[in-house]
Amino acid sequence: MQVAVVGGGPAGSLLGILLHRAGLDVVVLERRSVEHVRGRIRAGVLEHPSVTMLREHRLADRVDREGMRHEGVVLSDRGDPLRVDFQGLTGHGVVVYGQTELQKDLFAAIEAEGVEYLDEIEELALGDVTNRPVELRYRRGSREETLLADVVAGCDGAHGVTADAVPRGVRRTYERYYPFGWLGIMAETAPVHPELIYARHERGFALCSMRHARLSRYYLQAPLDTDLGAWPDDRFWDELRRRIPPAAAERLETGPSIEKSLTPLRSAVGEPMAYGFLALAGDAAHSVPPTGAKGLNLALADVVDLAEVLLEAKDPGPEALQAYSDRALRRVWRAVRFSWWMTTVLHRFPDDGPFAERIQDAELALLRSSVAARRAMAEQYVGILP
Ligand code: FAD
Ligand code: PHB
Repeated sequence: MQVAVVGGGPAGSLLGILLHRAGLDVVVLERRSVEHVRGRIRAGVLEHPSVTMLREHRLADRVDREGMRHEGVVLSDRGDPLRVDFQGLTGHGVVVYGQTELQKDLFAAIEAEGVEYLDEIEELALGDVTNRPVELRYRRGSREETLLADVVAGCDGAHGVTADAVPRGVRRTYERYYPFGWLGIMAETAPVHPELIYARHERGFALCSMRHARLSRYYLQAPLDTDLGAWPDDRFWDELRRRIPPAAAERLETGPSIEKSLTPLRSAVGEPMAYGFLALAGDAAHSVPPTGAKGLNLALADVVDLAEVLLEAKDPGPEALQAYSDRALRRVWRAVRFSWWMTTVLHRFPDDGPFAERIQDAELALLRSSVAARRAMAEQYVGILP
């Protein structure tokens, strides 16, 4: 069986590895160069089940050696910190490990095991996905190529082309835009706190994260039309200090940023996640705002589900892929809800009035006073589904 995987980010790379190991013919087709994909800075948190899964597939050596195990996070409400003890509440933690590093590990396995990964693919076009074989046409350098596939996996992210192969009448998209983005920086400074700080503040949300002991990642809620040029580092650090707990603000080590970016926030799910001989996985199928740290984890979990369906079915076709879609969507919607909730509770919505603010107050008061509320939050953050 020939599988074509469109997109070689974390989802496509992992799927390529899993299917190749099982003896299937698989080709990963990636639009950008390997160097570009390897260097992209994105997510930073691996849920407990993601780490377990990577271990089961012998892909976690470096995660285990270099990842930072976190047993909780701090939620700050206008400067007042509340620690949520993941380990105590759920028996599990998360691992802070950059998507950039995970992508390097996946490339190492792809190279060592001889998974076919073609980068710098241009003008990819999918033929009729309801008939087998599906024809994929693309250009690589000056050569026009055609690939015939029994199954196509659409792992080409939020701006890919495979989702468009599902006709409008079949695919329904459920979405919510948020009227702000995250202005993020990376700096070679010591993280301000050993755990992540998610901060609600009247000036807007802030997040203190990290990659390792000398690499910090910080985000500020910012308007969607923010001009990065208007945010020199000093302005960023001043604004961050205002939004985080005073004790943290005092300790904050500043320095030149080595990256600065604005990420819009969006929740979106396209249903179904499969059509004919095409299955969608990761950001190609859904987007979540980064607040719950779910995007990368969902992408990995989708791919594990999809690989299982492809390997279990004798002749995987529309029915098996539909079963994948049904199974994945149940998991996806729970993560979509959690990310929406974290976003709604912690951000300042420009059009919301005092009622919404009081609701946020009540949400945070509930977390502060109720072990049950904290446990529910902790279970969802570490990714265990009771
Ligand atoms: P992607 O990583 O997007 O990979 C898709 C791949 O497909 C890319 O390599 C792309 O080049 C390729 N591709 C696209 N179109 C084509 C085509 N036509 N032909 C061939 N290849 C194609 N999540 C978090 O949890 N926390 C965060 O802080 C966070 N920050 C983010 C910041 C940014 C700027 C972005 C874009 C995303 C962020 N995310 C974050 C989300 C997280 O990174 C994604 O959920 C994750 O990358 C999904 O993996 P994926 O493999 O599905 O998609
Ligand atoms: C990150 O470190 O980039 C990060 C961490 C947690 C999030 C989002 C992003 O919720």
